[in-house]
Amino acid sequence: MGYLPHALLVGALAFAPVAVSAQSTFPTKSVTLIVPAAAGGPTDTVARLIGESMSRTLGQTVVVENYGGAGGTLGMGRVAKAAPDGYTVAVWHIAHATAPALYDKLPYDVVNDFDHIGRITDVPMTLVSKNDLTAKTAKDLLDWIAAQKGKATYGHAGVGSASHLCALILMNETKAQMTGVGYRGTGPAMNDLLGGQFDVMCDQTTNTTNHIKEGRIKGYAVTTKAKVSSLPDLPTLDSGALPGFEVSAWHAMWAPKGVPKEATDKLVNALQVALKDAKVIDRLDSLGTAPVDQSIANPAALKSYLTAEVQRWGTVIKAAGVKGN
Ligand code: MLT
Repeated sequence: MGYLPHALLVGALAFAPVAVSAQSTFPTKSVTLIVPAAAGGPTDTVARLIGESMSRTLGQTVVVENYGGAGGTLGMGRVAKAAPDGYTVAVWHIAHATAPALYDKLPYDVVNDFDHIGRITDVPMTLVSKNDLTAKTAKDLLDWIAAQKGKATYGHAGVGSASHLCALILMNETKAQMTGVGYRGTGPAMNDLLGGQFDVMCDQTTNTTNHIKEGRIKGYAVTTKAKVSSLPDLPTLDSGALPGFEVSAWHAMWAPKGVPKEATDKLVNALQVALKDAKVIDRLDSLGTAPVDQSIANPAALKSYLTAEVQRWGTVIKAAGVKGN
């Protein structure tokens, strides 16, 4: 048997079992879940709900950290650079797919610099306004916007965010311009809409449903082809004011590229358990959405969906001639 100096032998013995057991017992400490938008908004709502359920499965706390700005690219940049050990994940949405077309200097590759954990939900969006706007229907609202000749204001969560994308498509299809007011997320944007500081927003049902139902803002229409059961009075834009209009904000979970398989498997499993959790399902239902089918809540399905979405929105954004930086 070869001779190993004592210090090396101790080092080797100390290192090997620790490395194996640290991996085999993942997670041994809390997991940080980065939300690349402000607290209190739609992504934050989805992330906290999923994180709470995942923490029960993982046996460790999942700590949500809001890191908003630049349409979510600051937060996703932070995730891309984090240690790929499974202890940092992100919940973000469609904006991860729109970012490459909008940001020339994006410091990461949205597909190849991440491990794809799985899709979570598809959230319908709603066209809403401050409460004292006189418009009664979606058509009234679009006529009012057109009559303002660019002076109507809309809130959004940064270039490429879901609220920004929805407004861009709306302006593109109606040929009416509005003036954008950017926030770190539609949580703070909603506070200002409630205060009447801007006119209009296109935001996810997870952020607007309760405010519409309780009469604090006006809701005009939903942006999906199907009506939303939690908001039965709202027609679809497609069926009335804007035939063909369709956009929704899909959410998913990512980690930095290179997470050990055992940790990825545990994260994927905890996500899939969360999507079957009755508490998660009920809460999402009350906010106008539902978990995705289990068959697409996995890394391979998310990777191929994201790749297709990057292509799809790249074409739309190029046609609209918009840039983020
Ligand atoms: C968005 O418009 O992209 C979202 O509402 C961001 C957020 O979660 O605040």
